[in-house]
Amino acid sequence: KQALTITKLKKMKQNGEPISMLTAYDYPSAKLAEEAEIDIILVGDSLGNVVLGYDTTIPVTLDDMVYHTRSVARGARSTFIVADLPFMTYRLGKETTLRNAGRLLQEGYAHAVKLEGGADIADEVSALVRAGIPVMGHIGLTPQSVHQLGGYKVQGKLEKEAQQLIDDAKALEAAGAFAIVLELVTEPLAEAISSALSIPTIGIGAGRGCDGQVLVYHDILQYASPYYEKRFVKTYADLGTTIRDAIGAYVSDVKTRAFPSQAHAFPMEQEVLRKLYG
Ligand code: KIV
Ligand code: NA
Repeated sequence: KQALTITKLKKMKQNGEPISMLTAYDYPSAKLAEEAEIDIILVGDSLGNVVLGYDTTIPVTLDDMVYHTRSVARGARSTFIVADLPFMTYRLGKETTLRNAGRLLQEGYAHAVKLEGGADIADEVSALVRAGIPVMGHIGLTPQSVHQLGGYKVQGKLEKEAQQLIDDAKALEAAGAFAIVLELVTEPLAEAISSALSIPTIGIGAGRGCDGQVLVYHDILQYASPYYEKRFVKTYADLGTTIRDAIGAYVSDVKTRAFPSQAHAFPMEQEVLRKLYG
């Protein structure tokens, strides 16, 4: 199977073919996502929440992202991989942005990077694109700005906010972004932005009008994620319960000596035993 390209992605939008994106953070999650034929794997800085146990994505470092992206790349060798630039690894000047994004491709084997922001980072986006680094935008609820936004709230409900998001989306497209994530925006606004752009939109909590959808691995699988009960998440399995029960059964087997059984143990030749112990 051939990994997707940004050219094919644009065609999918033109053909009205929905784009599926899921986060993954390591070898097994990436391997299973690829085997399930996901279109795009996002190594999201949401790993700060669901893998590293932080309350926000703000503590995630570029080294964290490189490490996890590289593990994902080993598990999914023929899937298009996007890696997040974490908090403060961009916006400090184009040179820093380029150097940091470069590491995600060169050391992490990502195909593209994602940045949070709109018109305010358009210059950095176009510098990345000129350097050969495909960029996915991300507007609406931008978790790296949670303290400025005052919480994880639906964005673009008011006219001025909505207009700003439309302008941001157009600025990102003009700067050369190949796709844009719309997070926690009202359904009508996401639909309007999607039809105003020629590049695909990928929604999370943005309703039915986007060109694709993204969700977080640990959320859809109920895999020890505290976030899966959110309104915009749909769950497809309860791995948390499965894993907890399985570990509990193992613990119980050890305590009752039901494990290991003879079948798990390695025998020795009778002859050798006789020589040793008579
Ligand atoms: O980090 C992440 O998982 C994301 C998606 C939710 C879009 O940015
Ligand atoms: Na993210």
